[in-house]
Amino acid sequence: MTAPRIAVVGCGYLGAVHAAGMASLGLATVGIDVDASKVAALGAGRAPFYEPGLEAMLQQGIDAGSLRFATDAEGVEADVWFVCVGTPQRPGSNDADMTHVDAAVSSLLPHLREGMLVVGKSTVPVGTAERLAALVEATGARLAWNPEFLREGLAVTDTLAPDRLVYGVRSGDDAAVATLDAVYASILERGTPRIVTDFATAELVKVSANAFLATKISFINAMAEVAEASGADVVQLADAIGIDARIGRRFLNSGIGFGGGCLPKDIRAFRARSIEVGAADALGFLDEVDRVNLRRRDRMVALVERELDAAGGGAVAMLGLAFKPDSDDVRDSPALDVAMRLAERHDVVAYDPEAAAPAARRAPALRIAGTLDEALADAAVLALGTEWRVFRELDPTAVAERTAARVVVDGRNVLDRDAWAAAGFRVVAIGRPDRDPTPTTSHEEAIA
Ligand code: UDX
Repeated sequence: MTAPRIAVVGCGYLGAVHAAGMASLGLATVGIDVDASKVAALGAGRAPFYEPGLEAMLQQGIDAGSLRFATDAEGVEADVWFVCVGTPQRPGSNDADMTHVDAAVSSLLPHLREGMLVVGKSTVPVGTAERLAALVEATGARLAWNPEFLREGLAVTDTLAPDRLVYGVRSGDDAAVATLDAVYASILERGTPRIVTDFATAELVKVSANAFLATKISFINAMAEVAEASGADVVQLADAIGIDARIGRRFLNSGIGFGGGCLPKDIRAFRARSIEVGAADALGFLDEVDRVNLRRRDRMVALVERELDAAGGGAVAMLGLAFKPDSDDVRDSPALDVAMRLAERHDVVAYDPEAAAPAARRAPALRIAGTLDEALADAAVLALGTEWRVFRELDPTAVAERTAARVVVDGRNVLDRDAWAAAGFRVVAIGRPDRDPTPTTSHEEAIA
């Protein structure tokens, strides 16, 4: 089969990375987005969000002549049309908002012909592909559902070296499978597992993977609640149970919980859809997963306020606003949420290495420092909300010289408690006993 020509509809997080990724596999690719400023930025090799490795991959595709961007499908020559638009939570409900997916597919219909393949990658409620297939098939083209599993911060690797490829196709649609195999030929050559299934299973694979990950995080955060009530240490608990290969240590990090553009809205949409399809009992636990997750933010706010009181008031330095490190995404970010709630009642100065601008757009009243030192300077309490490497690797002795604060609340359980305590800090963490500063031996005592 000759190399398929690719169009990617929707150049947000998923689509921009997917378009650049397809071009880097050597496929002629056009990224299409209705947002002209996004198209202009991407066409000039600039990523509209922070994602390590993406700009290099964009530039490479543009320089090689295999990647360009356009504001509509008119005149685009493609054999495979990927649909990569967002499915955000619908305001006032838990459902996914399907407006963008429906609009993207409708906009493609006039351009589709026999032999073409539309490939959905967006995360959608089960049953969507079946509904859209009827529209696509009426043009003579075919539909497949090929969910993505990319993580922000690792999106380039996850696109070019995924753990698996899942193709949801109409029963017996060997042509769709052959086309997808041609698209992903170089990935498949490396032995990447490929699972061919029906539409509904492909849709469910994505949402159930996210539901499992969210459940794993909320499980350990529920253990953190029990540890707090009983004086145990949730990090040691996670280390101990995580050694069991059946459990595994990954995604067992307790803290202020999960956020971002996927896990929270996907578990809510999945739960809402399970009720619609008549399986309401099956996913009731996801409501609890959501509640455990949100309670961790309350706990962080309470811990910081307790320490502020003990310090006799003052400012909070919020370290981190992004929903996770190596990302400037603040959608449903636990760190930003905690910062905003604290700022309603206290003086808060936040710092994030990459997310300052997006955070300022979402929380215009929040005071955001341009440098870490500026945030540290006035603080009475330090609060870590996102485990950026620059925070994990802080030298607590040097920090002690840059701030009057003598307490740090570690919302991600990543700081070296011994080192911080030895540098004179009280260390408060989620699901772990507090650690008071290690008493220092004065010079006089040492020689006595
Ligand atoms: C997630 C899925 O991992 C990915 O497969 C899917 O395609 C999209 O959703 P992402 O949103 O980029 O990816 O973030 P992820 O790395 O999964 O982290 C989600 C949230 O969970 C973050 O807020 C992170 O801080 C939190 N988390 C993660 C924990 O609190 N503890 C952990 O052990 C792991």
